[in-house]
Parts: sequence; structure tokens; C-alpha cells
Amino acid sequence: MARAKDSTLEDVLNRSGRCLSFEFGRNFCSDSWLGRDYFKILSCAFERYSDSKRLRGVRLVDLGAGAYVSGIAFAQNFGVKDYVAIEPYNFESAQSHLKRFMENNTRLSAKVVKSDMLSFLKKQPADSLSLMMFRIDLAVLPDDAYREKVAEQIARTLSPNGIYLTDDNSVQLQDSKTSNGIKKVEFNNHIWRAYLKDK
Ligand SMILES: C[S@@+](CC[C@H](N)C(=O)[O-])C[C@H]1O[C@@H](n2cnc3c(N)ncnc32)[C@H](O)[C@@H]1O
Repeated sequence: MARAKDSTLEDVLNRSGRCLSFEFGRNFCSDSWLGRDYFKILSCAFERYSDSKRLRGVRLVDLGAGAYVSGIAFAQNFGVKDYVAIEPYNFESAQSHLKRFMENNTRLSAKVVKSDMLSFLKKQPADSLSLMMFRIDLAVLPDDAYREKVAEQIARTLSPNGIYLTDDNSVQLQDSKTSNGIKKVEFNNHIWRAYLKDK
């Protein structure tokens, strides 16, 4: 029997509260957590966030998008126009998963760029992008100096109409910058957050 949309959403969110703290608390990533479930649960949480319409019609850059480019379904859910996956090491796999997704989904344009995130961001104009970065923990990026440079570039390239979405494990914008025209908003029990730039 089909279940009401809201009760399904409630179920997923209730489960996510327990599963996420358990998985992240142990710094554990199984295959299923690298898959669609993570972005499905994120979609459910983001759907309730008051600024979720900000993704509609934008260019969204997924920094470290992964071999399965799972973020593309999230992008499509929220009406993104142009999805750009940045993936240096799993480029071929990312491209083939993206191609398969696009065979059944034509509402957005999408591509994979083979680049590391810092080099890519440095080439982008200021105030031009929406961005997302998920599950890029301390072991993924080279060091704190690199993470700090990435944070600076995200703050520079973030559009005043856009949004930067991320999780506990990925690059945060520094407090000095959050007080310098960038606002941090937490949703879903601080697991995920959004950064907005003042217009
Ligand atoms: C744990 S996966 C996360 C993938 C995806 N964001 C997700 O949540 O499903 C980390 C990805 O970051 C990529 N990566 C590692 N270093 C990177 C860098 N300097 N710039 C961009 N991507 C990077 C890896 O190739 C890998 O696919």
C-alpha cells in the first residue's frame, strides 16, 4: 500500500538522525552510505529548509563529487539548471554514472570536470556559483592549508543569490568570514549546514 509522502519523509528523517550520528561518529562509510541513501536523506532534510528554493535554476558545483556522482539526483530534486561535478581521481567512473543518469533525466544539464577543487575554484569568477561539498573528510584533502584555501575560494565564488551546502566532515567557512558577509544556517541537527552570502 502506498504511504503518504509526509509519513515517508518523517520515517526517513527519523532514521537518518540515528544512522548519521552512528556512522559519522565511527567515521565509517559503507557502500550504501556512499550511495544514493545519503542524498535521499539529505533531500528530505533540505526540503524542509526555508531557503531550499535557492537551488532552482542555478549552476551548482559539486566539489569532490565521487565515482557515483550521487549528488546529481539531489541537484535535480531541487531544480538545479546546470550541475558540474568536480572529480580528479574517479573521473571515468563519474562520467559513466553521469551518462547513465542523463539517459533518463533531461531536466538539467550536467558534466564532470577532471580537476582538483582548488584549481577549479581559482579559475571561477567571484560571486558566480552555488556549491556543495559532502563527505570530504580530513583524510581526503591534503592538509589544513589546502582546506583553508578552498574555504577562501568558496567564500569568493559563492553567489549572493546562491548557497553553499555542506556537512560536518567537509570544508567549513571560517568564523571571520561568516561574520564578513557570509551567514551560516544549520539544519537537521547540525549534521548539514548552508552558507549564504549577503547581497
Ligand atoms: C568520500 S568521496 C565523496 C564523494 C561525494 N561527495 C559523496 O558524498 O558521495 C571523496 C571524493 O573526493 C575526491 N577528491 C579527493 N581529493 C580531491 C580534490 N583535491 N579535489 C576534488 N575532489 C577530490 C575523491 O576522488 C573522491 O571521489
